[in-house]
Amino acid sequence: MDAPVPELEARARACADALLEAEEVLLASHIDADGLTSAAVAATALRRAEVPFETVFEKQLDANSVAGIAARGYDTVLFTDFGSGQLDVIADHEAAGEFQPVIADHHQPADADTRLHLNPLLEGIDGASELSGAGAAYLLARALAARCEARLSNRDLAALAVVGAVGDMQTSGGELHGANAAVVAEGVEAGVLSETKDLSVYGKQTRPLPKLLEYASDVQIPGITGDERGVISFLDDLEVDPRADGEWKRWVDLTDDEKRAVASALVRHAVSRGVPAFKIDRLVGTTYVLEEEAVGTSLRDASEFSTLLNATARYERADVGLAVCLGDRGEALEQARELLRTHRRNLSEGVEWVEEHGVTAEGHLQWFDAGEEIRETIVGIIAGMSMGANGVSRDVPIVAFARKNDAETKVSGRGTGSLVGQGLDLSVVMREAARAAGGDGGGHDIAAGATIPAGNETEFVERADEVIGEQLG
Ligand code: C5P
Ligand code: C5P
Ligand code: ZN
Repeated sequence: MDAPVPELEARARACADALLEAEEVLLASHIDADGLTSAAVAATALRRAEVPFETVFEKQLDANSVAGIAARGYDTVLFTDFGSGQLDVIADHEAAGEFQPVIADHHQPADADTRLHLNPLLEGIDGASELSGAGAAYLLARALAARCEARLSNRDLAALAVVGAVGDMQTSGGELHGANAAVVAEGVEAGVLSETKDLSVYGKQTRPLPKLLEYASDVQIPGITGDERGVISFLDDLEVDPRADGEWKRWVDLTDDEKRAVASALVRHAVSRGVPAFKIDRLVGTTYVLEEEAVGTSLRDASEFSTLLNATARYERADVGLAVCLGDRGEALEQARELLRTHRRNLSEGVEWVEEHGVTAEGHLQWFDAGEEIRETIVGIIAGMSMGANGVSRDVPIVAFARKNDAETKVSGRGTGSLVGQGLDLSVVMREAARAAGGDGGGHDIAAGATIPAGNETEFVERADEVIGEQLG
């Protein structure tokens, strides 16, 4: 099997060597599904390589949080799923001899560099669609195993890397591409992953069939989406028995033939209701299954697993998500499931809030200010989900504000693949507009964020509108 990304291997080896020489490492990572899986991959690899380390999570990396990290006095700091965008700040601490940074990230780098920097963008690989933070951490983990001639190759960690990539929405056309696909292939070979073409809706492991179809909102199907009675009559008309012992089956309870029968009936129903072909295509995609997890649990499906992780880390419980990633199937998993119920409620209430209050259209963007109504840690997810919802266009990028604290406002920007194809780069938009408004930001072309002083939202919108206008010009 070829290495996922030969050009990155040398960077991974250099990073691994520095970590193996470190006295004690501080592992710092981001609070979302990709950040958690990045940390879990790196932590497992460090433990197996017998490198002492401690783990911390940050909501956001900025001058303050980097200074806090420096003050902890570790000789080496491993940043995963962030760090590249704050290289200017990190490089200053490095120059002052405070710590040796090692970075495994996939965000757009700031104007500075450092020696131990593993980022797909440095090798012409897209950090928004071809390798996630967890993928970068996985390359590091493989290099660590190889460099210390470990018994384990760390290829079992490919499963977590795929959860990170799926959590960062790196799939397009229903599947992972590029270096991500190479990571999948290694996971399949290691026996920890499998990929199947399947119905592409959320909840195949855990939801009863009626809820699975009723709540699937990515592709709106009249008579199914949000229509409990419609779904039940659809299911009862099938050749397949949707119940067992009087209880609704879940998708995983169906045989392969039954799955195919339900999926084709759903496609026929969608066609008959006039759903356009390009949307019907989105009903089927690749599902990534974690082979070592129990059937019928959210951990078995990469997409459900990643949502479970977001439900912990974005609510200040990264410790719970990390414990689940590291194998806790008892108390931590129970807590994560509880947090997931709240998270899902917040997401649907958030999208409803946006639909009710509407967005303001500017020349080249649309925006809303959720104030305190939506938590700043999930406003980006909601902005993305609301594109295409009632009253929200998919033809222009969306910018969302939420209150962070008395002094600061969180900003999230989201675009679409088609807008990126036309020249949109939200990492530049967010950075430029944030700087014009007295803050800073960054991210990816398709999704980026920023923090600005409270009260400067208008300046932000004006500058963002200009920059987007230039990009899409
Ligand atoms: O910090 P990070 O890289 O982990 O987060 C990426 C963010 O970009 C996620 O919130 C993800 O939902 C978003 N994204 C998106 N659309 C894509 C790719 C990523 O909204 N096509
Ligand atoms: O916070 P949000 O989900 O909107 O972030 C979208 C993307 O932008 C994520 O990849 C995040 O890491 C990145 N981001 C950043 N700098 C910020 C805020 C967000 O690089 N100040
Ligand atoms: Zn990421």
